[in-house]
Amino acid sequence: MAALKLCIVASEMMPFAKTGGLADVAGALSRQLAFLGHEVRAFVPFYRSIRENFKDVRGVDAVQGVPIAIGADRFEFSLLELDNGRKGPTVYFIDCPAMFSRASLYTEDPDEHRRFILFSRAVLESCQRLRYSPDIIHCNDWHTAFLPLYLKSVYAWDQLFARSRSVLTIHNIGYQGEFAAGQAADLGLGFSENRLQQSDLRAGIINPLKHGIVFADAVTTVSPTYAREICVTPLGMGMQDALSQRHDPIVGILNGVDYEEWDPRTDPHLEHHFHLADVRGKIRNKRRLIERSGLRFGDSVPLMSMVTRLAEQKGVDLLFDSLPPLLNARLFGLVVLGAGERRYREFFETLAAQFPGQVAFHRGYDEPLAHLIEAGSDMFLMPSRYEPCGLNQMYSLRYGTIPIVRKTGGLADSVQHFDPGSGAGTGVVFEHYDAPAVSWAINTALDWFADAPSWRKLMRNAMAQDFSWQHQIQQYDALYRRLT
Ligand code: ADP
Ligand code: GLC
Repeated sequence: MAALKLCIVASEMMPFAKTGGLADVAGALSRQLAFLGHEVRAFVPFYRSIRENFKDVRGVDAVQGVPIAIGADRFEFSLLELDNGRKGPTVYFIDCPAMFSRASLYTEDPDEHRRFILFSRAVLESCQRLRYSPDIIHCNDWHTAFLPLYLKSVYAWDQLFARSRSVLTIHNIGYQGEFAAGQAADLGLGFSENRLQQSDLRAGIINPLKHGIVFADAVTTVSPTYAREICVTPLGMGMQDALSQRHDPIVGILNGVDYEEWDPRTDPHLEHHFHLADVRGKIRNKRRLIERSGLRFGDSVPLMSMVTRLAEQKGVDLLFDSLPPLLNARLFGLVVLGAGERRYREFFETLAAQFPGQVAFHRGYDEPLAHLIEAGSDMFLMPSRYEPCGLNQMYSLRYGTIPIVRKTGGLADSVQHFDPGSGAGTGVVFEHYDAPAVSWAINTALDWFADAPSWRKLMRNAMAQDFSWQHQIQQYDALYRRLT
């Protein structure tokens, strides 16, 4: 079948810039689509951290010093390119230091919306100057959600985009990028301003994500269950009406796992490798993790872990009341790696102080440690309030680290509750968002761990799961072909 011309547009992308799973997915999607033979051009902002860490970028001649007006202010951007070898996607960076050379990827600065308006417009301006006529422009989350509207308004005159179709993937509906209606002029829509959501304008706001939902030619999200959950309250988080009013259903495509990055047989971050038929390496990683975390118990004691953004979504609130009594009542260790909100950080800091040698909290963002934790723990806890897909539970499965998850979004689609009787299932799944339910789940996992044959069976089931991108990418391919 004919190769398609694709633009993948995302505010973060591995290996260049990452705060969460969006980066893993945007990077994997670009690579996998290129493997399928498509012409893939990926676009990412040229953040300060990318400037510092990726020195071998070069300017693209045709796209230098391009002016863009945002409201009354004039900016200039240039396009940079990284040579990724012949086979992979072309990766372009939008370089506009005034917008992207800041201390972090995302900010709470008053011009946050303007940064991503500029990014989105710069992608289309770049296509024009490169004479690149994409079949599909694939946007991700609120940051790039105005692109579909731009294609249908400000850039609609250009024949270059006459056949271009837009896809919006919602990775997390909890972030919508709202800003004040008084700043509508920043969008530069001119006469097309009447296509903004009028009831929101009257209420004094502009919601970027909602415009993506209304104007994209297709809307997808990252698991089938989440696709259903966001069409109703409460998980629609205000977007349920816009989603339900679309003439086509929201497509749920479960994320894949990049097993080149996350495979215990080859993981470059690990000293000790292991696989389904020989898990001795896992125990060695466990010893290493226990030592590195300053815990004081032997490797026969169950070790539970979390690697997470410390945000409300991740369900840490449930642990406030449930973990202390569990840690008193039962013998198990806990290792947490996380960065984010202060109240959650303080909770884990206090817990580590209360249970020295039993609980360790690693504060911050640490990629190699995340791999050691996946490899060296027995159980992985994800009590999310909501979870569009979640990647760590799928990594955990491959590492024989039994996921304890709440039945929501992609967690529900990727983990099946184990039945010791029949021997089927891959983890512990609990339903209600409350402390008794998570306590039950942790107790259940500890009980199964104590029964060695059950646990071995559970580990084998988990490690045999396959969530490779090779399957999932076909669904994106089919969607693009339906649209073009
Ligand atoms: P989300 O995107 O909502 O944060 P996901 O489960 O999809 O959740 O993806 C999270 C990704 O970020 C995983 O690859 C995980 O290992 C990584 N990650 C999250 N927090 C940290 C951290 N503190 N240190 C290292 N990696 C982290
Ligand atoms: C979001 C979601 C997470 C998902 C990731 C990648 O950050 O919170 O569940 O796995 O995007 O799609």
